[in-house]
Amino acid sequence: MVNIPKITVATLAEMKRASEKIAMLTCYDYTMSRILDGCGTDVLLVGDSLGMVVLGYENTIPVTLEEVLHHAKAVRRGCRRGLLVADLPFLSYELDPKEAARNAGRLVKEAGVEGVKVEGGLEVASSVKEIVRINVPVMGHLGLTPQSIHRLGGYRVQGKTPQSAEKILTDAKVLEGSGVFAIVLECIPSGLAEEITRKVSVPTIGIGAGPHCDGQVLVLDDLLGLYGEHLPKYVKQYADLKSEVSKAVGGYLQEVRQGRFPSPEFEYG
Ligand code: KIV
Repeated sequence: MVNIPKITVATLAEMKRASEKIAMLTCYDYTMSRILDGCGTDVLLVGDSLGMVVLGYENTIPVTLEEVLHHAKAVRRGCRRGLLVADLPFLSYELDPKEAARNAGRLVKEAGVEGVKVEGGLEVASSVKEIVRINVPVMGHLGLTPQSIHRLGGYRVQGKTPQSAEKILTDAKVLEGSGVFAIVLECIPSGLAEEITRKVSVPTIGIGAGPHCDGQVLVLDDLLGLYGEHLPKYVKQYADLKSEVSKAVGGYLQEVRQGRFPSPEFEYG
């Protein structure tokens, strides 16, 4: 059997030191987990984007811890090499550090994740510290934080004014000081992401934050061309699976209706 080195939080720190880029993707089910892990994806994130791309919610706010647990268990079964991280959903970590740690602990204990992600900076620092205290690695998330969509007033680029850029930089330092192992930077100007990447010791993972981050993340369904009509500027579609699936299903429907499927090679004698 080939000896595949397991990715850990220590591997990510080493990759930053060696200027090796980290490639992360969201993942929500067993089949995709096997494929992504087999391709060598460094980090698989059971993001709360599952609420939108899998469950059909309008935004990530309704996602529950039970839903994340359910999907994280499926992803766990297909992931051997990559680091498995899951989102703590809205209202599962912000109010009380002890409750945050208990919920993070459930994801580790019941679904086998190796880290959790939380959105926000100074406001969630006490929760981050408590989760780290029980030995669960935490990934931060700054910039466009979708769980704050009502306060932000839409999916907009953050950190464009000097004050808001300063706040994101300060929050990144606070998260670093609270013990996170990495920070996702979503939808911020490239120059700000570059500065944060230089000024914090932990890896930064960008999504709509330019090329200077230590790694990149995309929502899998965006990359595959499965989700959404209007994609954000930062999304590169590497495939058009929506068209492929429509073509395949259209072919099947037509052949069934015309009595051409199943043809003799698909029947038992
Ligand atoms: O939930 C998610 O998919 C995320 C990524 C966009 C980083 O948080």
